Amino acid sequence: MKFKLLTAAFAALAITGSVRAAESPEVEARIDELISQMTLAEKVGQLNQLSGYGYNPDMVGQIRAGMVGSLLNEVDPEVVNALQREAVENTRLHIPLIFARDVIHGFKTMFPIPIGQSATWDPAIVEQGARIAADEASSAGIRWTFSPMVDIARDARWGRLAEGYGEDPCLTAAMGAAAVRGYQGDDLSRPNTMAACVKHFAGYGASEGGRDYNTTWIPEPLLRDVYLPPFKASADAGAASFMCSFNDINGVPSSGNTELLRGILRGEWGWDGLMVSDWNSIGEMVNHGFAADKRAAAALGASAGVDMDMEAHCYAAHLADLVEKGEVSVATIDELVRNVLRMKFRLGLFDNPYVDAASMRRFYAAESLEAARRAAEESAVLLVNNGILPLATTGKIFVTGPMADAAHDQSGTWSFDMEKSHTVTPLAALRDMYGADNIIYLPGLAYSRDRDTSKFDEAVAAARGADVILYFAGEEAVLSGEAHCRADISLPGAQTAYLRALKAAGKPIVTTVIAGRPLTLPEESGLSDALLFSFHPGTMGGPALANVISGRVAPGGKLPMSFPRMVGQVPMYYSVKNTGRPTYSMTLIDDIPLEAGQTSTGCTTYWLDAGLAPLYPFGYGLSYTTFEYSEPALASSEIAADGTLTVSCTVTNTGDRAGSDVAQLYVRDLVASLARPVKELKGFEKVTLAPGESRRLTFNIPASDLGFHNLKGEKVIEPGEFHLWVDNSSDCKKQPVKFSII
Ligand code: GLC
Repeated sequence: MKFKLLTAAFAALAITGSVRAAESPEVEARIDELISQMTLAEKVGQLNQLSGYGYNPDMVGQIRAGMVGSLLNEVDPEVVNALQREAVENTRLHIPLIFARDVIHGFKTMFPIPIGQSATWDPAIVEQGARIAADEASSAGIRWTFSPMVDIARDARWGRLAEGYGEDPCLTAAMGAAAVRGYQGDDLSRPNTMAACVKHFAGYGASEGGRDYNTTWIPEPLLRDVYLPPFKASADAGAASFMCSFNDINGVPSSGNTELLRGILRGEWGWDGLMVSDWNSIGEMVNHGFAADKRAAAALGASAGVDMDMEAHCYAAHLADLVEKGEVSVATIDELVRNVLRMKFRLGLFDNPYVDAASMRRFYAAESLEAARRAAEESAVLLVNNGILPLATTGKIFVTGPMADAAHDQSGTWSFDMEKSHTVTPLAALRDMYGADNIIYLPGLAYSRDRDTSKFDEAVAAARGADVILYFAGEEAVLSGEAHCRADISLPGAQTAYLRALKAAGKPIVTTVIAGRPLTLPEESGLSDALLFSFHPGTMGGPALANVISGRVAPGGKLPMSFPRMVGQVPMYYSVKNTGRPTYSMTLIDDIPLEAGQTSTGCTTYWLDAGLAPLYPFGYGLSYTTFEYSEPALASSEIAADGTLTVSCTVTNTGDRAGSDVAQLYVRDLVASLARPVKELKGFEKVTLAPGESRRLTFNIPASDLGFHNLKGEKVIEPGEFHLWVDNSSDCKKQPVKFSII
């Protein structure tokens, strides 16, 4: 197989050390000089990353012995400088440490969780958020973040979708690249930048059953067409590091996957950054049954090209012995060390190893909070609205629900350094906006998992005294994120029962769901006069939601993931195959007559008890105005395999309020050597228009973006007919325009 031959060749080259990465000759020369002076123990030390808290004798001893290359989780700049001083001043070669942290969606000023940032469909917002995070975290001495996570997620049960950008490779690629640019800026040696770390390479989101860390089975066309493109885009954006994933791909754990790490990432893509393992993922190859013991795991990781061992202690314990016994070559070690030193040079740490916290400290700057609020506003997705929103009331407002005043949970998962005292909740923002006297507040439920219904009657009675009910439901932060998967993705606790109870008050109900994943909300959609969805919105989530509810800001978010009607539909995504039995009509379970004949419901692909469609499709989101899209115009209806498809379309705000919408360009390859999806997103653009305003949009899609990978892993661009749509949701029902690759 072509792909395998390439990999083997590259792996051989890499191990002999004859593959040089692209770096300035001066830096490479300095790296060569350092490596030539290093003992084997010092080389192994550079490949060892530890989680450190505090300046303690044990950590100082390891640093002075040259046994540590990087520390994660220390965020006190004074301690960072003290530990760095040990490395720079009290070791033989004065090689600085890299200090790392999971700064996933903010350090102190928390932005919406990444899936929420993706709901903005605005890469500039993601880039700005990453820039602010880098500004804040670097002032604590953090120069390496384990972000962006660009794992494609098509299973809403998987808790880690919260950290990614959703189900689609085109959208995720744009967001991942934007995050890299934001973290790294245009000069990674500047002290207020952070090295990005693109993770989890690769295929982690395909974890079987949506259960974290589970096995993945990913045929090469799926790997290359869906799971890898966001990583390639992030590498092309200049990402300084990658992190390999916990999962096995088709039986091979990523931490020992030479084809993936050397063949594709470094061989095909020519990437020259630092590959760090996930936490103990090298050691976990023993649990996988892929390594007999940690010594074997160390050999597998090093040979596969994992440069740095995060907290498995496999390299520290075994690499020197493996080299001395000839089981791992010095050349391999030197190549791993080279990648680590290169990132340290790129970060400017040899010339500027210390953090000047006093001059850099910029937590919660007004402009940062403003940016975080705008991101949260843009990430809110309006799913249902019978006209109750924007809220016009001048009377009393009943605010209720477990997420109305949940300062801790509002920031969502991976908010280690968040201070909830700085979080502005919806309750606080509504009191500020409408006046505390006009807000009646009773939570009804104390937290999202609460099953105590004893407060319902009191709350319903209070609601009767208001003009409108604002119900804030959702998930606590702990119910999504790493290892936090759910087999039932409905509202936790008694939240749905509480909504039913609130109906008895006889008032309009605006339900806002604040959560870390798509939830199944069919009943809530029917019981609510308006349904607004906010993926954990961060520090300024309260003012953002108050601005959207009140109409000060129009909602413009679009779903980055399909919302299933019920969990049995999962995995649920828009870019499905047509199958041989596409569904044109359905007989649902309650409509089937008694003693119905075996074939009476037809023989096509759908669920008797759920139909076929999601509750809300990818790309969907309402506004306070309406938009129309002209029929797309093609510069040419035929393009060559090396050509570019140029598509123009006019979008018009046909309503009476300003608003934003996202023009989404989808294609379908009608006939190919592999069955192709019924739709694939190939471009998008967010526009903000005044009432009656029109904007002419033009998309240029290279024909190479219309190709796919065959079963041999080869990229092919086949001639044939395509359909194309430009609209504001993936469930666009318009007639497509047609073009061909000739
Ligand atoms: C965790 C996560 C990874 C994170 C790392 C360091 O287990 O999988 O995303 O960056 O460990 O905290």
